[in-house]
Amino acid sequence: RRRLLGTAGATGLVLGAAGGAVGYAARPAEATPLASLGTGQSMFHGKHQPGITQGLQARGHLVAFDLAAGSGREEAAALLRRWSETARRLMAGEAAKQDDTDVARDAGPSSLTLTFGFGHSFFGRTGLEKQRPVALDPLPDFSSDQLDKSRSNGDLWVQIGADDALVAFHALRAIQKDAGSAARIRWQMNGFNRSPGATAQPMTARNLMGQMDGTRNPKPTESDFDQRIFVPASGSKDPAWMANGSYAVVRRIRMLLDDWEQLSVKEQEDVVGRRKSNGAPLSGGTETTEMDLEKTDTQGNLIVPINAHARISRPDQNGGAAMLRRPFSYHDGFDTDGVPDAGLLFVCWQADPLRAFVPVQRKLDRGDALSKFIRHEASGLFAVPGGAAEGEYVGQRLLE
Ligand code: HEM
Repeated sequence: RRRLLGTAGATGLVLGAAGGAVGYAARPAEATPLASLGTGQSMFHGKHQPGITQGLQARGHLVAFDLAAGSGREEAAALLRRWSETARRLMAGEAAKQDDTDVARDAGPSSLTLTFGFGHSFFGRTGLEKQRPVALDPLPDFSSDQLDKSRSNGDLWVQIGADDALVAFHALRAIQKDAGSAARIRWQMNGFNRSPGATAQPMTARNLMGQMDGTRNPKPTESDFDQRIFVPASGSKDPAWMANGSYAVVRRIRMLLDDWEQLSVKEQEDVVGRRKSNGAPLSGGTETTEMDLEKTDTQGNLIVPINAHARISRPDQNGGAAMLRRPFSYHDGFDTDGVPDAGLLFVCWQADPLRAFVPVQRKLDRGDALSKFIRHEASGLFAVPGGAAEGEYVGQRLLE
C-alpha cells in the first residue's frame, strides 16, 4: 500500500549490511545524504534476527510483555506468528496488515529492525520448562543494584530500532496491537543514538557522559565473533531451538550526570582510562591503539588507573568474556528536584551470559571507578532465537 523500494532502496540495503562495526556510525560517509536515509532496509529473514550486528540506530524502543492469564503455548505461537508477519512487512516498508495507523506513511523502512526474545518466566507459563535454556537462570544480585522489579524481565521482549522516530513508533504500536488479548505490556523504554550523517565522518558514537562508547566492541569481521555472540547450530548445551540465537542482557543504567559533570575532564578520563576527545587510551596513540596496561608515569604510577572502567571490563581481565554492546541512550525528563532521569539502555549480546555479562559485571561491581556515577535501575535477560527462515515465524522451532 505504501511504497516500493527502487534502486535507492537496494543501495540502502547493501550499505546497511556493510555497517558491520557496531558502535560506529557504521555507514560510509557517502551513504548518509538525507534523501537516502529512509531507504535503508534490514532483512527480516536470515540466520540471525536483525537488530544485533548492525550499527547503532537513531531511535529505539524496548518493550516487555507478559502473557495474559489463560494464554499458553498456543496463544504464544499465534502471537509470534502475528509479530513475525508484522515485522516482515514493516521492515520491507509495507503497511501493517490490519488497521495501519499511517504514522510511517511516506517514509521508507529507515533500517527498521524488530528483534524478539523470551524471558525466564515464559517457559513456565507455556508448559515449556524442559526447553528453557540454563543460560536464562536469573542473573545474580549485584551489590550496587537498585532494581525496579516492575521494570525488569518479562515473558516476552521486543527490541525495535530505526533511523526515524516515527517509523520506530509506528512499529511499537503495531506490535502492541498484535498482542491483542494474548499479552500485556509489562514495561517499555525509549532510547536514541546519534542520527546517521550528523558527524562529518563515520565515528564511534558518544553516550550522555560524552564518552566515545563502543570502541572495543567485537567486530563481525573477527574470526571468533560468531562463537562469542551467537549460540552455535550444534554442539552446545543450549536447546536446539536456540541455534544461531543469542542472549540479550538489558540494563537501564541511570547516569548521575550532576555528579559526573562536576569532574574535570582529566578526572573523567581517569574514570574510564580513555581520552574524552577521541577515545584514545590514556597510555597514548589513537582510538584504536592497544591500551598499555603496564605503562607508568615518572613517579611510577599506572597511567591507566587500576580501577579504570576500560581496564577492568576487558576480556583479557575476565577470562576472555566478550559481549557485543549495542545500547541506546535514554532521557525520561527530570525528577522534581531537577535531576535528569537519563542514562544508558545498556543492551549486550553474547552466546553465554554466564561467561560474558555476569563475570564482567561482578568485577565492575567490586571496584569500577564508574560505579559512583551510575545506578542500575532495571534488568532483563532474554533468549533471542535465531532468525526465521522464509515461511517461518520467529521462535517456531520452540513453539510448534
Ligand atoms: C568499555 C562506558 C557500563 C562493559 C567502555 C568504554 C566506555 C564505557 C566509555 C570505553 C570505550 C569502549 O571500548 O567502548 C560505559 C558506561 C556505562 C558502561 C557509560 C554505564 C552507563 C558497562 C557495563 C558493562 C560494560 C554494565 C558490562 C557488564 C564494557 C566492556 C568494554 C567497555 C566489555 C570494553 C572493554 C575492552 O574490551 O576494552 N564502557 N560502560 N560497560 N564496557 Fe562499559
